[in-house]
Amino acid sequence: MPRTRLDRPRRRPGRRASAVAASLLAVSLLAGCGGTAAPSATPADDTIALLLPDAKTARYETFDRPLFEARVAELGDYEVLYANADQDAAKQQQQAESALTAGAGVLVLDPVDANAAVSIVSSANAKGVPVISYDRLVAGGDLAYYISFDNEKVGVLQATAFVEGVGDGDDGRGILMVNGSPTDSNAALFKEGAHSVIDDSGLRVLAEYDTPGWNPEKAQEWVSGQIAQHGDAIAGVYAANDATAGGAIAALRVANVDPLPIVTGQDAELSAIQRLLTGDQYMTVYKAIRPQAELAAEVAVKLLHGEQVTAPLEIEGTPATLLDPVAVTVDDIMDTVVADGFWTVDDICTPAYADACEAAGIG
Ligand code: GAL
Repeated sequence: MPRTRLDRPRRRPGRRASAVAASLLAVSLLAGCGGTAAPSATPADDTIALLLPDAKTARYETFDRPLFEARVAELGDYEVLYANADQDAAKQQQQAESALTAGAGVLVLDPVDANAAVSIVSSANAKGVPVISYDRLVAGGDLAYYISFDNEKVGVLQATAFVEGVGDGDDGRGILMVNGSPTDSNAALFKEGAHSVIDDSGLRVLAEYDTPGWNPEKAQEWVSGQIAQHGDAIAGVYAANDATAGGAIAALRVANVDPLPIVTGQDAELSAIQRLLTGDQYMTVYKAIRPQAELAAEVAVKLLHGEQVTAPLEIEGTPATLLDPVAVTVDDIMDTVVADGFWTVDDICTPAYADACEAAGIG
């Protein structure tokens, strides 16, 4: 059974020191400085840094952060230093350095750039601070834990539903692939999983794009260009997540493509669930973020106290847990995201969607 042990002496600094640490981080984050001026604090065993990558994808601020913080609060009197890197790897590096300077005793890191983040892990390791690779796997360094979903399976689920929706392309039309960020280690796995299905399906890939920073505007721009080139020959758009799906659908709408081709997604964002209802989007992938965020909080607290952690898997030498993603089409909304309390019927069925909800039997 893989396990990690944090074996270095720790000094409990007390709440005051930790509050100072938290405000130091806040100051350096607000000032946008790299935290070079502040004296290095001894890593504290009551301070956890949560470093998330992206604000354009809804999950991080809506689910990951609040669920993580709530679980930490249940576990005891800990300080969480939070920062979102806005898809900027250099900014994430600064945020990590600031958190370390402020005395974070463990980093929970969802890397913007899997390769660049190796130096964050090295800085943390040099201070004896363990790092949990959260959702995306850092490309190296001594990681204490990795918690994610089965990311290749995400791509397989997307492409399986996609091929079901599009058919085998025997009408001569082809598909577009809007993949995720080229610096995101998960994006490569989504793409690999999707290709494993699409490449055997008979569908022809007209063109493929790795969307910088998962940016929906960039996805929209690229799809617009492809519509100009391929017009009616587009039978479907494989989009790797809901944000890029939103960009792709916006491009199709602007070009008055009617009917809309099949479009995939991921993350079960509220806007995507509503697009499933109106038929604008064909599927999404639901990843239950609660168990992911809560397990990360529990492991972080254990590591803070130098306790051993165990995991069901070992991935690239790191103890790991991979959760199971679930495909969602309009027919599965009640049994998945609603049954799980991820979204309520009230969240989904706002007045603009009342008719669509009724038609789909939601309510
Ligand atoms: C992936 C993550 C997805 C999605 C995407 C955009 O790494 O697994 O859930 O959020 O990044 O940030």
